[in-house]
Amino acid sequence: MTAPKKLFIKTYGCQMNVYDSERMAEAMGGQGYVQTQTADDADMILLNTCHIREKAAEKVYSELGRYKGLKVAKPDLKIGVAGCVAQAEGEEIMRRQPMVDLVVGPQSYHRLPEMEAKIREGKKALDTDFPEEGKFDKLIARPKAKRGPTAFLTVQEGCDKFCAFCVVPYTRGAEVSRPVDRVLTEARDLVERGVREITLLGQNVNAYHGAGPNGDMGLAQLIWALNDVDGLERIRFTTSHPNDMDDALIEAHGDCPKLMPYLHLPVQAGSDKILKRMNRSHTAASYLRVIERLREVRPDIHISGDFIVGFPEETEEDFQATLDLIEAVRYGSAYSFKYSTRPGTPAAERPQVPEDEKDDRLQRLQALLTRQQRQLQDDMVGRDVSVLFEKPGREAGQMVGKSEYLHSVHVTADGVSPGDMARVHILESRTNSLSGQLI
Ligand code: 5AD
Ligand code: SF4
Repeated sequence: MTAPKKLFIKTYGCQMNVYDSERMAEAMGGQGYVQTQTADDADMILLNTCHIREKAAEKVYSELGRYKGLKVAKPDLKIGVAGCVAQAEGEEIMRRQPMVDLVVGPQSYHRLPEMEAKIREGKKALDTDFPEEGKFDKLIARPKAKRGPTAFLTVQEGCDKFCAFCVVPYTRGAEVSRPVDRVLTEARDLVERGVREITLLGQNVNAYHGAGPNGDMGLAQLIWALNDVDGLERIRFTTSHPNDMDDALIEAHGDCPKLMPYLHLPVQAGSDKILKRMNRSHTAASYLRVIERLREVRPDIHISGDFIVGFPEETEEDFQATLDLIEAVRYGSAYSFKYSTRPGTPAAERPQVPEDEKDDRLQRLQALLTRQQRQLQDDMVGRDVSVLFEKPGREAGQMVGKSEYLHSVHVTADGVSPGDMARVHILESRTNSLSGQLI
């Protein structure tokens, strides 16, 4: 018997890449690979890349540079690049870094086993197609191995919105939803393997419209169907677009017992002029109205967002409108970025905001968001939350889990294991987490 070959996957970017990496690892299991946690002992290295902002691609090239020594020491080592940089750069990756054996775009992962066989013969393999056949149907291997208490499940992929700054519609392709029965089968399978919380993933997850038994079903209907899965305790979803927050989905936040009171709803900017130039097709007021309606049905919901500062032609006044919107919303968490020029997107051609201006705005924006986040976290002290425990903490006897609002919660208690759920009384708010005691 030959020893199994070792596969090291390094994942960049969003949660969808995390999910894709898991599926690729399973697919490569069929080729005789087991996963390893270090590049040093790998027979194959696969970078699952992200193209959303400039530095991400540069990071990939410098990471590839680091593997040169490994390849010299072990000429049989195979190196592959997957993900959105693979899709966007294609052959260019092999030109710039000739030791790369394989380049595979996000819609072709089910072809990875064939591609691996090809590179083993010393050939190069490149696939950046958008094939007709759905990759997930071919990728989901259903291994029965136990899993941790939380999992991602991709239900929708791609985007038809074409925000003027964003590469996603080009790298992930058009919007596609997986059929409801496939999602439910995968969810039940995850629950059997120990999963208690599922986060439904999609670049535009709330535009989900998967085929169901009686026609297409929207995200709210899918969530209600998942609500009936025994053993599943919590449902989350990400990422959403404000225009696809329909009535049924807003109401589900009030009525659906397993849907968590947390919503990631990017707005990007608070100035209507900039939102229009971003091709967001919503206004600051329509966004605020969605938040208001969510709070009507679920007053304690935590809102999270994405922001871009320094989009082309953003003035100080426009930026101020973003700060005003943040003040109005009160975010529980947020991700903020300096606008990064993405070749091939409409905004790349427009007059750019100077870098030092972007830096300054980002700092001010983050200072405000950090204050808000801290405030909302501090407000949890004295309250009772539900915690799904995930792993032991750093101190002896400590367990860490997540509250319904996605705060990390530390508890020191005996007899609590990963996967357990318990009510916890919050006693203290620290930099990035809460601590409390079991009730
Ligand atoms: N520059 C900066 N941030 C971007 N994002 C997407 N494209 C860009 C870009 N070109 C951010 C948006 C999006 C998040 C995933 O990344 O805020 O919601
Ligand atoms: Fe990108 Fe806009 Fe689509 Fe989100 S909605 S993936 S930001 S184009």
